[in-house]
Amino acid sequence: MGNLPKAEAFKFPLDLGAPEGSLEGKARPVDNGSDVLDPSRYYSREFMQKEWQTLWPRVWLLAAVTADIREPGDYTLFQHGHEEFLVVRQDDGSIKAFYNACPHRGNRVCQVDRGTADSFTCPFHSWQFGCDGKLQKIVDEETFNPKLIAHRPGLTEVRTDTLGGLVFVNMDGKAPPLKEWMGLPEGYIEAYGLETMNLVRHTRSEWSSNWKTGVDTFYETYHLPHIHPQTQGSIEEFCQIDLYKNGFSRMIMWFGIKSHRHEVSHERDLDEGAKIFLRDAGIDPETYTGTVADTRRDIQIAKRERAQRLGLKEWDKLTDGQLSDGWITGMFPNVQMGMHAEGVFIMRFVPHPTDPEKFIYDNVLLYRHLEEPNYNVPTWMAMPKDVDVTGATRPDIERWPADQEPAIGPVLLQDFELVPNVQRGLKSRGFKGPLWGEQEQRIRHFHKEVDRYINGEN
Ligand code: FES
Ligand SMILES: [Fe+2]
Repeated sequence: MGNLPKAEAFKFPLDLGAPEGSLEGKARPVDNGSDVLDPSRYYSREFMQKEWQTLWPRVWLLAAVTADIREPGDYTLFQHGHEEFLVVRQDDGSIKAFYNACPHRGNRVCQVDRGTADSFTCPFHSWQFGCDGKLQKIVDEETFNPKLIAHRPGLTEVRTDTLGGLVFVNMDGKAPPLKEWMGLPEGYIEAYGLETMNLVRHTRSEWSSNWKTGVDTFYETYHLPHIHPQTQGSIEEFCQIDLYKNGFSRMIMWFGIKSHRHEVSHERDLDEGAKIFLRDAGIDPETYTGTVADTRRDIQIAKRERAQRLGLKEWDKLTDGQLSDGWITGMFPNVQMGMHAEGVFIMRFVPHPTDPEKFIYDNVLLYRHLEEPNYNVPTWMAMPKDVDVTGATRPDIERWPADQEPAIGPVLLQDFELVPNVQRGLKSRGFKGPLWGEQEQRIRHFHKEVDRYINGEN
């Protein structure tokens, strides 16, 4: 599984040549046609309403990570548009989720992002509910007509399911079982062992575009040389792109190698970015004798060797490619996960409660800490220095007011500044609809699936 010769490797689309059906294998091509879609989907209130009628209630939504609710009574909130859910670990180890709306007058029962509780007391009139959602107490119960409360109103439960350290909810309860619906190859998420990682950073910022404009931006690497030129020395933007069932998709991005667009003036001409990736793998770039074409492979070898030395069993399940590359995975409809051996970068593109031209960008960083002096958080994760990466403390969500620049690192900030401009142009009378190329095929695949919900086919 060495580096392919450069010229051969970077014909588009890239095919890594792994066996079909394996986690790394290239998926069979999908013909999604070449329609030009009406751009009103990005800004009209009518389309937003349709999404609330036909899309959001019917899909599985990523609500939490199990790392946040490990013990009975641990709970976390999940907001999605105007809805909010309370996700709670039960005494028997199972997980239940409820609408965070009091059956009495609708107040938000839980108003804290996360914690541990024996029961939940609504702040308005102190009705009390168990962790199982059941009604425990109505204050001054004798003042209610017994008929009104005969059904012992508890919190309204919502269907939940888990997969590989992720917790999902389904609002209308009619979706196929999560495992069946999940478009990714079997064992794909599980291979990374998310349960053994900790949530070390959680940021939430408001971006000025439709949630789908956000998804589109992160679903292709075509814009990398133009919006993120600093990635060119160490990331190859021609990817292996895989389209899976039910709108899921993936791109495998090679990290630690110079982009094919760049002439290599000298085979030892290592970019600063590539040196960072070498250093992260424990290789000193100053004494490194490999060439520009060797870096990715040498990073894999160094990481494999280190994992064996440290007894890092979780990595045995990963291919060499997974050690060096980003498996950027799209979970329909609104989640993208950057899957890496060291940690996982989860992005949620959450629709704004009322405005189709805004979304909430939720960014969760999961990381597996090792007590090892030479093992550090990979630099590309842009982890601020003050973050506790040991997992000993679960950090609070970092939030920024809508008009303030979030501290999400220089690359994501470039996207943050880009999307309002895209959103403005999408609305112009002069814009006739997106013209997606083959590097953008994941976007078309995603929108085609959205349309199946909107048109009532799913
Ligand atoms: S609204 Fe919750 S107790 Fe009244
Ligand atoms: Fe970007």
